Amino acid sequence: MTTPMKISPPTENALQKAVEILQQGGLVAFPTETVYGLGADASNPEAVKKIFAAKGRPANHPLIVHIGDLQQLSQWAIEIPEIALRLAAAIWPGPLAMILKKQAHVSEVVTGGQDTIGIRMPDNPVAIALLQQFKGGLAAPSANRFNCISPTRAEHVLSELGASVDMILDGGACKVGLESTIIDLSSEQPTLLRPGHITPQQIEAIIEQPVLLKQQNEIRAPGMLELHYAPTTPAALCANEHLPQQLQKFSAEGKQTALICRRSSAIKDSHMTTKALPDDPEGFGQALYAALRDIDLLKLDFIIIEQLPQHPEWMAVNDRLLKSTAGRILS
Ligand code: TXA
Ligand code: MG
Repeated sequence: MTTPMKISPPTENALQKAVEILQQGGLVAFPTETVYGLGADASNPEAVKKIFAAKGRPANHPLIVHIGDLQQLSQWAIEIPEIALRLAAAIWPGPLAMILKKQAHVSEVVTGGQDTIGIRMPDNPVAIALLQQFKGGLAAPSANRFNCISPTRAEHVLSELGASVDMILDGGACKVGLESTIIDLSSEQPTLLRPGHITPQQIEAIIEQPVLLKQQNEIRAPGMLELHYAPTTPAALCANEHLPQQLQKFSAEGKQTALICRRSSAIKDSHMTTKALPDDPEGFGQALYAALRDIDLLKLDFIIIEQLPQHPEWMAVNDRLLKSTAGRILS
């Protein structure tokens, strides 16, 4: 198989070319430990605007700026609280983004008009090499079309954004596979905005104060949830004990259905397309987006996803599944 020209292994030459593209205001997709990012020079508003155009993302959705050196934090943020420095020292490079007050020079194109900035240092050797050779910050959302599934492999980026990105650095499969944890430290009360691999408990242990969970304050009716991280095939959750009955019902209705579940919940002798993912939350989260994408390609009628335990260690996976099914549960 020949490698499509836009995808490059991260050789020295490829990294140098990527830096040149970024310096000229182009877009380079790169691997991080969470998902692939669609990067542009964060100090070049015209370059950053291309990200919004490529993704079809509304201009008021702020981007995360990626840095490869802790020294750069104060170039982007002001009034950095001591707890932010503690988190950076303990977790960076790693899957935690912090929301801080922005420096005056930071373009509103990056921050979606807010006076705060999202910032993180990714834990991926290709991302770090790129950032260090570029020497600046890279604004990078997940490299997918707005509201679609985040890419965890270079080929995912190619199939979705290949026409609008100048280069894709291939770093293989992302090791976390779900987007970073986001903690808002721009006001008095540290607030979790997006659950991820770094848990609120880990953050609380480092900052020695409680973290407010934003979701707990927002009671939204399931059907009202905005579809996000969503496959194009309609999907719903289903409790483990109802799986056989629901699968039978869909099959009796002549619907081509796929099942995503934990390996230990896979239904034996079923002819159904099944993605049996690892039983642990980390393994399940790492494989989830690729499984959703694979199933989407089959153009089936429906995806049934096993509902997972309401346990803190499943928080990030449950958050993404709730959004990709708009909270629809079969019972
Ligand atoms: O894991 C990740 O964070 C990946 C990789 C590429 O680093 N990036 C990512 O970016 O998921 P994106 O744009 O898909 O999601 C960023 C999230 C959005 O929900 C955005 O609203 C939030 O971060 N965000 C960014 N800046 C913010 C700010 N100043 N205030 C509140 N939320 C912010
Ligand atoms: Mg995204």
